[in-house]
Amino acid sequence: MLASLRDYVEQLREEGLEGPPAATEARPAAGPRAAAAPARDKIAPPAPTPPAAMIATHPARDGSPATAAAPTELFYRYPGLEKTDDLAALREFIGECTRCKLAPKRINLVFGVGNPSADLMFVGEAPGADEDARGEPFVGRAGQLLTDIIERGMGMARAEVYICNVIKCRPPDNRNPEPDEVAACEPFLFRQIDLVRPRVIVGLGTFAVQALLKVKTPIGKLRGNWQDFRGIRMMPTFHPAYLLRNPADKRLVWADIQEVMRELGRPLPSRGAQR
Ligand code: URA
Repeated sequence: MLASLRDYVEQLREEGLEGPPAATEARPAAGPRAAAAPARDKIAPPAPTPPAAMIATHPARDGSPATAAAPTELFYRYPGLEKTDDLAALREFIGECTRCKLAPKRINLVFGVGNPSADLMFVGEAPGADEDARGEPFVGRAGQLLTDIIERGMGMARAEVYICNVIKCRPPDNRNPEPDEVAACEPFLFRQIDLVRPRVIVGLGTFAVQALLKVKTPIGKLRGNWQDFRGIRMMPTFHPAYLLRNPADKRLVWADIQEVMRELGRPLPSRGAQR
């Protein structure tokens, strides 16, 4: 009963009939800055956004300058985040995180997995129970479908791409992440994206896409249309969990994936492979 109610709410969300508050609203009020890895029993709120003068630029992997729109000010909520120069350093910086109220209930912090210099990055919402247990994103049923999309649909190995979530810890009972949790976690996602510097990001589902783009537009309107995430091509598409309940919409995701393959200049596997 509870599970089907949750499914229904999730479906409404995917269809844009009920969206979480955009992450822009999630900016916390001014508060003390969080230390890099504060003690587990103390939950420190993110620090305020700094003045524009403090905003740094971060070059892309190929050395070209970061786009002017880069919200690098987010780094300054956690002093030193901008100095992490690879994913291992970023993971170490995050540490046994207690920066938001999800910390006490998680089993594992789910950082991300895959090729650290992938051309293609998938961003989902938040870990579920399977991901929390294993410490790896997209390993449950929805994850299996994502793996099929990558391996059978795109003809790529899962290890060739990079996969992560907006939120690194599981919200209890798979509830929606809350604005303060997004605010605490999104600097890590943005740093992750800057470090991987993929050519294409695929945003999976309403929550991820709205958090990345800072919009409230429903996924049904955004999907299939290229977006710009700080100079990186971003393709919004439906979340695999939505596809499990709405298999007829797989054809729409396949169309989006074909766009992505074209953008990456990769051959499309034969039509039969993605069924
Ligand atoms: N759903 C997500 O958005 N992310 C996961 O890692 C698993 C399910």
